[in-house]
Amino acid sequence: MNNNEKTIQKFNNHVVQSYGRYPLAMKKGQGRRCVDEDGKEYIDLGSGIGTNSLGYCDEKWADAVCAQVRTLQHNSNYYYTEVQAEFAEKLCETAGYKSVFFGNSGAEANECAIKTARKYSFDKYGKGRHNIITLVNSFHGRTIATLSATGQDVFHNYFFPFLEGFINVKANDISDLKEKLDDTVCAVMIEYVQGEGGVNVLQQDFVDAIYELCAQKDVLVIADEIQTGVGRTGKFLAGDHFGRKADITTLAKGIAGGIPMGACLMNEKCSGVLTAGTHGSTFGGNPIACAGGLAVLDRINSDGFLDKVAEKAGYIKKELEKCSEVASVTGLGLMVGISLKTKKAGDVAKEALNRGLLVLTAKEKVRLLPPLTISDDELRDGLKILMEILEE
Ligand SMILES: Cc1ncc(COP(=O)(O)O)c(C=O)c1O
Repeated sequence: MNNNEKTIQKFNNHVVQSYGRYPLAMKKGQGRRCVDEDGKEYIDLGSGIGTNSLGYCDEKWADAVCAQVRTLQHNSNYYYTEVQAEFAEKLCETAGYKSVFFGNSGAEANECAIKTARKYSFDKYGKGRHNIITLVNSFHGRTIATLSATGQDVFHNYFFPFLEGFINVKANDISDLKEKLDDTVCAVMIEYVQGEGGVNVLQQDFVDAIYELCAQKDVLVIADEIQTGVGRTGKFLAGDHFGRKADITTLAKGIAGGIPMGACLMNEKCSGVLTAGTHGSTFGGNPIACAGGLAVLDRINSDGFLDKVAEKAGYIKKELEKCSEVASVTGLGLMVGISLKTKKAGDVAKEALNRGLLVLTAKEKVRLLPPLTISDDELRDGLKILMEILEE
């Protein structure tokens, strides 16, 4: 038995088997490459589902995190910390929001958004205006509330009863939206690019219709930017591509460079909704995560960083479109979905692993979420392996 197999056996003895995992035990990483327990190296075009935004163990990020670990690792939200204040200020300034609630995951950020939208409406209009419109094929998380919000029947099993108060509208269907946006609705929640749903970008006219109808009715727009946010699409928020800013935006994944963190950003209108005792999270705004987040923000805000992300995205699209097996390429920035003509995405991901390349899948597509810092050479090497597999 090799070292990978030994780790996998020990792991499976005691870790709940709620994931379909690849047979790879990861030992360490540096930059855009990682190494398994037997010393095999991989180019990573998945970056931990977009979490390792600066790649593995980026030096400045690691220094900031280690310095924080040695200073103050945690206390509680009974007290204030300078690092949380600093991160909140920079995050709100960068994203263009008034305030932020910190949690530890995407689902938690969305829970906060759902609670804020319902309380905003309750405070202003009283009971009965609690419904939230979400889109067919969306994905908002794995807690009961966020599963209920998720517009995919496949997730609505086993765990009954789900939470009531979510209505699904077909993405890009303005008449379906108009029909369902009635006086019981307090918010419309969208992903500008449905990630888990297959890397599908919303159409501008549909996004415009959401914002215009919601503004008329004082219905909040919630943008779930857990996968699209923090530079992933070549702008800090994907909403910037559409010229729109939601009342509430949720972030997680790459926000702290691979340390668990979720954030629920609120505009002026929503920032006073959650009052003392109405919401909380023991680890929310943890100093180590905030130190990691500051290092990520510093890099993303550095000169030309996001332009480079957009440039790399253009290169990926151009290369992939040369490949005869590729039917189409969807997505925005470094969030890429590849539809295949004959091959199955799952088979491609398995073969890529054999050849030292990590890619993701989303529905029937191969999905790439490379680290935002990936070098041109590594990108070229990774795409070469992928295209060889696709063209065989
Ligand atoms: C758009 C979106 N929302 C919510 C989530 C849930 O995030 P987490 O797994 O951190 O709870 C995800 C995770 O894939 C996501 O892509």
